[in-house]
Amino acid sequence: DLSVNDYLRQHIRTVPDWPAPGVQFRDITPLLQDPQVFRVMIDAFVHRYRAREHRPDVVAGLDARGFIIGAVVAYELGVGFVPIRKKGKLPFTTVEETYELEYGSATVELHADAVRAGDRVLLVDDLIATGGTMMAGKRLLEKLGAQVMEGAAIVDLPELGGSSRLRASGLALHTLVD
Ligand code: PRP
Ligand code: HPA
Repeated sequence: DLSVNDYLRQHIRTVPDWPAPGVQFRDITPLLQDPQVFRVMIDAFVHRYRAREHRPDVVAGLDARGFIIGAVVAYELGVGFVPIRKKGKLPFTTVEETYELEYGSATVELHADAVRAGDRVLLVDDLIATGGTMMAGKRLLEKLGAQVMEGAAIVDLPELGGSSRLRASGLALHTLVD
């Protein structure tokens, strides 16, 4: 939807040279801070995932900003929420995946009982850059036999190639702003 795209785009703040020189950081905190913008953003996801053909069994959120959006969407859909966390934060038995970031590398974990084989999972984050984080999340969920029905994010940075790579790997994506 072009108007939602334009409306949300106006509220994304670009911070030059953060966290490293040359990076144009797209800061989504202004979208959360304004209650009207926050609602438009959440409702765009809820509207899509309430539809029978897109309705997930569970929402998985990526640490840390994916939790903010994913938890609210799950609550509104009336389905459960499971966190995919940076290594060392989850207390129970986990599965893990290591991946490269736009800057640095990271390992993420998921509780081994977070999803069941055959579950249709919606994977949520705030932003897709290289796509490494979302790809790692997809692999974690698939290790447990779940089916990642779609990846959802507020922002896609298409010039970094992440969304193309994710789609090439067979993951459907829904993003609100390019
Ligand atoms: C950012 C962002 C995504 C990821 C996108 O999180 O919130 O999760 O990077 O980059 P990618 O597509 O190249 O993987 P970050 O790792 O900075 O963690 P944070 O949410 O804890 O700040
Ligand atoms: N904004 C927010 N998160 C990110 C970015 C960005 O520009 N790049 C990688 N993760």
